[in-house]
Amino acid sequence: MTTSVDHGQWSSRLAFILAATGSAVGLGNIWKFPYIMGENGGGAFVIVYLLCILSIGIPVMMAEVLIGRRGRQSPGNSVRTLALEACANTKWSVVGWVGILAGFLILSFYAVIAGWAVSYIFEAGSGSFVGASPEKIQGIFNDLLASPGKLVAWTTVVLGITGIIVGKGLKDGLEKAVTYLMPSMFVLLLIIAGYAAINGDFGATIQFMFYPDFSKLTYSGVLIALGHAFFTLSLASGAMMIYGAYLPQKTSISQSVMAIAIADTVIALIAGIAIYPIVFGNGLEATAGPGLVFVSLPIAFGQMWGGTIFGTIFFVMLGFAAFTSAIAMVESAVAWLVERLALERGKAALIAVLSLWLVSMLTVFSFTGAEWAKLDFVFVGKHVNNYFELIDHLTADVLLPLGGLATAIFVAWVMKRDVVQEELNLSDGKFGIWYVTLRWFTPIAILFVFLNLIGIVSF
Ligand code: PFF
Ligand code: NA
Repeated sequence: MTTSVDHGQWSSRLAFILAATGSAVGLGNIWKFPYIMGENGGGAFVIVYLLCILSIGIPVMMAEVLIGRRGRQSPGNSVRTLALEACANTKWSVVGWVGILAGFLILSFYAVIAGWAVSYIFEAGSGSFVGASPEKIQGIFNDLLASPGKLVAWTTVVLGITGIIVGKGLKDGLEKAVTYLMPSMFVLLLIIAGYAAINGDFGATIQFMFYPDFSKLTYSGVLIALGHAFFTLSLASGAMMIYGAYLPQKTSISQSVMAIAIADTVIALIAGIAIYPIVFGNGLEATAGPGLVFVSLPIAFGQMWGGTIFGTIFFVMLGFAAFTSAIAMVESAVAWLVERLALERGKAALIAVLSLWLVSMLTVFSFTGAEWAKLDFVFVGKHVNNYFELIDHLTADVLLPLGGLATAIFVAWVMKRDVVQEELNLSDGKFGIWYVTLRWFTPIAILFVFLNLIGIVSF
C-alpha cells in the first residue's frame, strides 16, 4: 500500500512553464523536427504538424496536467485516486504506469544520444573540426559510436548529472536547473540562428522549410507529424502528469499548456532556421537523423569563420536542451519510489539512475555493434535489428500512441465531466470544444495512426 506523500509545488506559474517547456524542448526539436519537416514537404508538413499539435497534442497535454494536479501523486497513483473518485476500476491506473515506463525507456537511449552532444562540446571546443575533411569528421563520429568506453563514460556523465539535479528535489534541483538552463539555451539558440542567417544560405533555408509543396506530402508524412507531436510535447511519458502534480491550484491549465506548446513549436522552427543555413551554405545535403547534427553540422562549422566558438555554443545549447528533458523523463519514477518505498529523494534518484544506467547499456552496445545486442525479428509491425531499435520503436510507435489514447479515454469517458470541468476552470463554450475533441477526435485519430503503424490498416 502506498502512502500519500506531499511532494511540494512549483514556486510559480513561470517555474512550471519553464520546467514543462524544458521537458518538451530537446533532441526532438533540434535535430529531428528540422529533418522530418524537410523530407515531408516543408511548409505543407508544417501545416499538418501544427494541426496535430492543436487538435491532439494540446488536448492530451491538458488531460495529463489535470490528472496530475487533481491526483498530486506519481502518475500511476494519481490515476488510481481519480479512478476511485469516478467510481471506476482502479485498473485504469495503468494509464499512469505506462507513462512512467515510457519515460524510463526513452531516457535509457536519450541519455546515450545526449552523451554524444556533451562529448561534442569538447570536440568542437578543442578545434577538432577546423579545416577537417568530411571523411575525418565522419571518422570522429564513427569512432565515438564504435567505442564502448567513450559511450559508457558520456552516458554515465549524463545520467549522473540528471540524478544529481533530480535528487536535489523540486525547488533546489529541477526548478533551479530549468531557471538557468532554459533562458541560456534560448539565447544560445538565437545566437546560432543569427550567425547562421548572416553566414549561411538563409534564402535556401526559407525555401526548404516554408515553401508548401503539397505534392511532397504523403500519408506517411501525416503519420510522422502525428507521432512527432506526441514525442515533442513529452506526452504519454509521465512527464506532464508529474509536472502537473506540482502545479499550484490557481494556475490556469489551458493557458499554461498553450504557452508550452507554442514555445516548443517556435523553438523547433528556430532550430531549423539555425541549422539549415549552415548546412546549405556549405553545400551539404539535408541528411537524416544523427548525421545531420553530428556530421554535417561539424563539417560546416569546420569550414566557417568562428566555427570553433559557434560550434561549441551549438553543442552546449543541445546539451542544455537534452538535460531539461532528461530530468522530466525520470521525475515520475523518482516520485513513485518516494511514495512506494518512503525513500528520501536523493536515494530514490540514485536507484532510478542506476537502473537507467544498466538499461542504457542495451543502447550503448547496440551502437557499438556488439553481437549480444543484435536482434532480428518483427515486433509490432516493424523489423528490429538491435535493442536500441526495439526500445525506440516500442516507445515511439507503441507506448506513446496507446498511452495517449488511454489518457484521452480515461479523462473524457471515465472521469466525471463536472470534475474535469472544475479542474480546468473553463467557460462552458471553451470546455465544450476541448471535451468533444478529446472524447471523439483524439481517440479516433490516434487509433487510426496506430493501426496504420502496426500494419492493420494501410493507406
Ligand atoms: N520532448 C522531448 C524532445 O522533443 O526531445 C523528448 C521527451 C522528453 C519525451 C520528456 C518524453 C519525455 F517525458
Ligand atoms: Na520537443
